[in-house]
Amino acid sequence: MSNAFDHSQMDIKPRNEDFQINADMPREWLNDDAAVTYWFNAMSVVFPEGERLFMDSVRAYKDQIDDPKLLEQVRGFVAQEAIHGREHEVYNEVLEEQGLNAAKLERLTKIIMGYARKQPKIAQLAGTVAAEHFTAVMAHALLSRPEIMDNAHPTYRAIWTWHAIEELEHKAVAYDVYETVAGKGFGAYMRRVITFTLAMSMMNVRFTYNWSVMMRAAGHGIGLRNWGKLFGFLWGKTGFYRKAMPHFLSFYGRNFHPWDENDYHLATHALNAYRADADAGKTGAADASVGELAAIPAE
Ligand SMILES: [Fe+2]
Ligand SMILES: [Fe+2]
Repeated sequence: MSNAFDHSQMDIKPRNEDFQINADMPREWLNDDAAVTYWFNAMSVVFPEGERLFMDSVRAYKDQIDDPKLLEQVRGFVAQEAIHGREHEVYNEVLEEQGLNAAKLERLTKIIMGYARKQPKIAQLAGTVAAEHFTAVMAHALLSRPEIMDNAHPTYRAIWTWHAIEELEHKAVAYDVYETVAGKGFGAYMRRVITFTLAMSMMNVRFTYNWSVMMRAAGHGIGLRNWGKLFGFLWGKTGFYRKAMPHFLSFYGRNFHPWDENDYHLATHALNAYRADADAGKTGAADASVGELAAIPAE
């Protein structure tokens, strides 16, 4: 394995932040631009239900994990996702208060997740592995290019940075559980990449739909100009998706492992910046005493 450190010994601990996002904060909180802001909102709307499904799908296998360190990491993963869900629920309530129709979009997410929950346990776990790769790639993209959030409201910058740090930190937990229960054979590989292809297509259709509903609800519309802005952010000049493509596609590798992309330094760096912001009272988090980053034993 090409890991530069032994990720299997990482301590994964939640940082119990409370961002107190509220409706007095600007609705167009990123670059004063609805098209880009609402793309992040479109993801937020899916998180609470999605993260509950991730937690349950991993927890469902806890009796089959013999490695005590992996079991401990599963507990850390579940604790982190539970807090993410809680904070994004508040975030989404604010979107609703600000007239963005988020409650309707959350109800729709619940229906889709209800369907996913009817699938076999192993399919749900494969879906979680796929979604966790997506969040890890997004986290890498955001933390390696912090300038994307330079003109964000500080509390929104804080919640996205905090979430990205923890997604990066726990990116291999679902994967390691999958490998433990499904193995490394061709069947496990095929299940993982087929699920990934389907899940990514559906998720991005969902994000685009959420985005269009919020754009309409806010009265911005989905004319060519706004599509152009979103396209420019994802695929054009900013290239938030475009530049992340090699990382994203690495999932198709036969011997892929999330820590092949050894980007832990991004989390360390971001946490230091996050702490400096918190100390300066800029994050809006009620408890600025964020926990320690997981200690990484040297190779
Ligand atoms: Fe999360
Ligand atoms: Fe996650």
